Amino acid sequence: MTNIRDIFISLFGSKPILSEAPGRINLIGEHTDYNNGFVLPGAINKKARFAIGLNKEAVFRFYAADLDKHYQTKTIDRAPIEFSWANYLLGVLAQFQKAGKSFTGIDCVFDSNIPIGAGLSSSAAIECGFAKGLDRLLLSDIQPLQLVKMAQKAEHEYAGVMCGIMDQYASVFGKNNHVLLIDCRTNKHTYVPFQMNNLSIALCDTKVKHELASSEYNIRRQECEQGVSILQQLNPDIKSLRDVDTKYLEMHKGLFRPSIYDRCHYVAIENQRVQDACRNLENSDFTEFGKLMYQSHDGLKNRYEVSCKELDILVDLTKPMESVYGSRMMGGGFGGCTINLLEKEAEEQFHQTITDGYKSQTGMEPDIYFVELTDGANVIPDEP
Ligand code: GLA
Repeated sequence: MTNIRDIFISLFGSKPILSEAPGRINLIGEHTDYNNGFVLPGAINKKARFAIGLNKEAVFRFYAADLDKHYQTKTIDRAPIEFSWANYLLGVLAQFQKAGKSFTGIDCVFDSNIPIGAGLSSSAAIECGFAKGLDRLLLSDIQPLQLVKMAQKAEHEYAGVMCGIMDQYASVFGKNNHVLLIDCRTNKHTYVPFQMNNLSIALCDTKVKHELASSEYNIRRQECEQGVSILQQLNPDIKSLRDVDTKYLEMHKGLFRPSIYDRCHYVAIENQRVQDACRNLENSDFTEFGKLMYQSHDGLKNRYEVSCKELDILVDLTKPMESVYGSRMMGGGFGGCTINLLEKEAEEQFHQTITDGYKSQTGMEPDIYFVELTDGANVIPDEP
């Protein structure tokens, strides 16, 4: 990665505040966060880094070092369509302004080694890392959960994706060698130890991102809301799909259009799976844990309908491999990565088998990353 501090000094002539924020994985609990459910993500050793400073010229100057692209504006009340990465920064600035924090102008240099569009939350890392640095720069002392919510709002209002809270939450609260069990109703988490001793987490990037991704994401949210409004006619205490189990849904199946029923059914089971998966983790029962990952993928493919051919191929390729405990698509869907839990000593063989298999079925070479679980967003102490 580049030396963003030196670039900042040469571009803007002052010393910056440095900050960083990681991308995330999610072991299980997909499309449950915006249904007030449970998720089990962790922060990974791929991150976005920032050098940020104030200027008196009432201008916002951003430089994306790895893309070698500059963006400059005098106003932050609009999202610039043609520079998608600048949307995230402006979106965060707008949130700081709404929170009553004042600034004249801001300069920022950043870079990232989180693959874009791979479902590893590169955008959340940009929002959270920038928010963390700004918080220090402006001495605003905003609580971490508040920063998470501001970063999420930036995504809603400036990128137009009505995401849940998981990505930004994991990017801020991540912890070395742990995953987070987040209850997305209370917005509280517990850290679950995840020792990688004999285990490995592999991410296989399909290298495709189908157009549908953000439009279908927003549609799934609406479908879940439709499901909830049907359920509320039965019982006004039902506030979200978190409040129902599959038995209850099955009893009232006739009230739903088949697709809405399938969406609700998937969410109800997935919430249960996250809790079962946590128990398996506590007992180091990775075989059972892995089965839940495969079931989660089946649900995402058949009932929630957010998978795609390339993701299914990657998951299917792992099924005959004895060293793989589980595999499933991760994140919003329609492309991006699968997450795979396997025995560490099988990494090389896994890499080869998946690469060959994917190539022969799609003509494309997947990117495969073995990742570690790390800490969340931080301000980096400057050199003396
Ligand atoms: C995206 C969103 C998250 C979450 C996942 C699906 O990553 O940003 O909030 O909904 O999809 O689990």
